[in-house]
Amino acid sequence: MGRSIGREVYTLEKNYLCEILENQRIAHNVHRIKIKKPSKDFKIQAGQFINIKCGEGDFPLLRRPISIGLTDEESMIVYVSKIGKGTKLLCDKSKGEFIDILGPLGNTFNVDIEEGKVLIVGGGIGVAPLLELTRVLSQKDDVEMKLILGYRDEPFIVEEFKNYVDNVIVVSEKEGFDHKGYVIAPFEKELRENSYDEVFSCGPEPMLKKIKEISEENNTTVQLLLEERMACGIGACLVCTCKTKRGEDDWNYVRICKEGPVFYGKEVIFDE
Ligand SMILES: Cc1cc2nc3c(=O)[nH]c(=O)nc-3n(C[C@H](O)[C@H](O)[C@H](O)COP(=O)(O)OP(=O)(O)OC[C@H]3O[C@@H](n4cnc5c(N)ncnc54)[C@H](O)[C@@H]3O)c2cc1C
Ligand code: FES
Repeated sequence: MGRSIGREVYTLEKNYLCEILENQRIAHNVHRIKIKKPSKDFKIQAGQFINIKCGEGDFPLLRRPISIGLTDEESMIVYVSKIGKGTKLLCDKSKGEFIDILGPLGNTFNVDIEEGKVLIVGGGIGVAPLLELTRVLSQKDDVEMKLILGYRDEPFIVEEFKNYVDNVIVVSEKEGFDHKGYVIAPFEKELRENSYDEVFSCGPEPMLKKIKEISEENNTTVQLLLEERMACGIGACLVCTCKTKRGEDDWNYVRICKEGPVFYGKEVIFDE
């Protein structure tokens, strides 16, 4: 498995002012924002995030963490779900405006896999960080991927995923897609009927909890990206702690922004 929590990625996080190159609404309350990288040396990898100052002045005081959705040499794309004051301000920004970002932050998905079968499962805006992961894994000739993407209503970025993988199951609570309901049923069926080497997932906590349980029942390694509420984003305030296993019978708290946001399922202890 290579990596375990407690391994921090020692990237030098810095403040940058970055230009917004594009901002489009792509679904109800979801925006795709393309941001110019501060320089070609700015490297950010699948699973990592940036902490964005969404407003002007002191409102809102805290930055908002947003995962990297897709990246190339010159730009990075983020997908933002407008759920509150910070994300609304961010989605209201126009092409040509500059935003203050702190990054790159957090650890990365472990993509140290050269062959085998991988199942990627996303729920809601949690599909966003799985796109860059899918792009990276699609470059490995001997890695076979299948995706399950779940939405409350209108699916988004499905075509972007299909640029990298053909095998995509779209799940929605609305009629008209591959499966009606939640991702858990097709996920469980998939793991029961096929053997996978690794599962990757991001989405709401109740979904991740089920993904972890089902993966464990099927003896499949799972990497989970936790999108917990944060404040500083750099390991200083302890707002984002999560309970994790340490050895057989012990546990401790770790900071999701620093030791995470990606953890192996076997390491995470979700609240009962
Ligand atoms: C590592 C990481 C990566 C993330 N990546 C993305 C991403 O790619 N795209 C994206 O849209 N969002 C992402 N998020 C979530 C995003 O940071 C929050 O939605 C955002 O901070 C909310 O700010 P706000 O001011 O709009 O909402 P607020 O006004 O602060 O809150 C509005 C409502 O949303 C709830 N809320 C706020 N933050 C969260 C949260 N993290 N989880 C669940 N409920 C929350 C509040 O309790 C409240 O009910 C990520 C979070 C983390 C930690
Ligand atoms: S958000 Fe401050 S320690 Fe994680």
